[in-house]
Amino acid sequence: MVARAQSSRLAGATSPRGLGRRLLHSSLAEALTFPHGVDRYVELVRPLLLKRDVRAEVTAVRHQTPKSVTLTLRPNENWRGLQAGQFVGVSVEIDGVRHTRPYSPAGSQHAAGGALELTVSTHPEGRVSRHLREHARAGLIVGLTQAQGDFVLADPRPDRVLLISGGSGITPVMAMLRTLCDEGFEGEIGFLNYARSRELALYGAELDRLTDRNERLSVARGFTRGRGAKLTGRFCREHLPAVISEHSGAATFVCGPPALIASVRAVWAKDGLAEPAVETFTPAALSFDTDGAEGIVSFAASGREAANSGLPLLEQAEDAGLAPDHGCRMGICNTCSCRKTTGTVRNLVTGQVSTAPDEQIRICVSVPLGDVALDL
Ligand SMILES: Cc1cc2nc3c(=O)[nH]c(=O)nc-3n(C[C@H](O)[C@H](O)[C@H](O)COP(=O)(O)OP(=O)(O)OC[C@H]3O[C@@H](n4cnc5c(N)ncnc54)[C@H](O)[C@@H]3O)c2cc1C
Ligand code: FES
Repeated sequence: MVARAQSSRLAGATSPRGLGRRLLHSSLAEALTFPHGVDRYVELVRPLLLKRDVRAEVTAVRHQTPKSVTLTLRPNENWRGLQAGQFVGVSVEIDGVRHTRPYSPAGSQHAAGGALELTVSTHPEGRVSRHLREHARAGLIVGLTQAQGDFVLADPRPDRVLLISGGSGITPVMAMLRTLCDEGFEGEIGFLNYARSRELALYGAELDRLTDRNERLSVARGFTRGRGAKLTGRFCREHLPAVISEHSGAATFVCGPPALIASVRAVWAKDGLAEPAVETFTPAALSFDTDGAEGIVSFAASGREAANSGLPLLEQAEDAGLAPDHGCRMGICNTCSCRKTTGTVRNLVTGQVSTAPDEQIRICVSVPLGDVALDL
């Protein structure tokens, strides 16, 4: 038995596949493929067999509602896994241009084979969401970042968990619910789930199935523009007893539009409770003043420059005819990260002013104060 195990290990080490992988990771391969690196060449032949880039193959596509698409993805071996509630940057090529957007996988973090499930809700003008809805097919390869974000369940798990979601914001809390169910969580779970109507409600059938199987789970739905739900209207304190014995002390996770988050925060503040964990997919309205903007913004790599309009640098770059890569447009995903070579910028989220040369900044939330040069 032992001898067979050893010989098969040795066979693996010298098999064409094992040898190929060793060669792929060797410095010789890196030197031979300079300046593009091994991945650029391998990608042309076997898109999933890359040295360091994370890629995933779409293995199944389904449509839960008329305005969404649910994709099952099989990531390559560079994927390091995720915690339920985190998001990934998903890149697709549309008309020869790569676009990246953050999506929160909705599956359990314990899904068999590390499979990921994305549910993408389409926006009427949305580039990537409409592309995925219209063109994603089994076999499509997409780019992925490693998982990011701290909207996650604590470990060890809390005794009581309250999940609140609105619209497409169901995805990260669905991942938490599925993960807790897979772990045989024995505490109380309450789930308030809001959608516009029954037709647009995501994961309705699965929520019913999970509730039937788990007596500690209570789910209540509210349709803000339709009938037939247990809850009436938008979130309010009166909805809480429908799913949880006592909301104070429950680890609470809220994901949805800013108005839902504001309502939950207001109830929690009034009750003197600690802030719930929140996430929104919608870029926040950032406040900044363009009056008095001065100086020149230089985009060194493209040889362009423009008078500083006082807007965030991503918008100034787009106004100058550039198309920098971006994802969330709210300082979360790091897709727009770019090197500022000189100048002073203010981060609109943190308020921090930084003057250091040669630093990476998130241009979607950075406004220039005077002359600024970017490596763009
Ligand atoms: C951390 C995080 C996780 C996310 N997870 C998911 C997810 O699991 N499922 C999902 O469907 N989406 C998710 N999103 C939103 C997603 O990243 C994209 O914003 C969305 O798919 C629209 O991209 P697009 O390219 O289609 O639209 P774009 O071409 O980027 O934008 C088109 C228009 O739609 C508007 N718009 C863009 N996004 C939104 C929005 N979220 N709400 C309202 N208007 C918008 C823009 O202002 C613009 O006018 C997540 C966002 C973040 C920040
Ligand atoms: S686009 Fe996500 S951090 Fe700037």
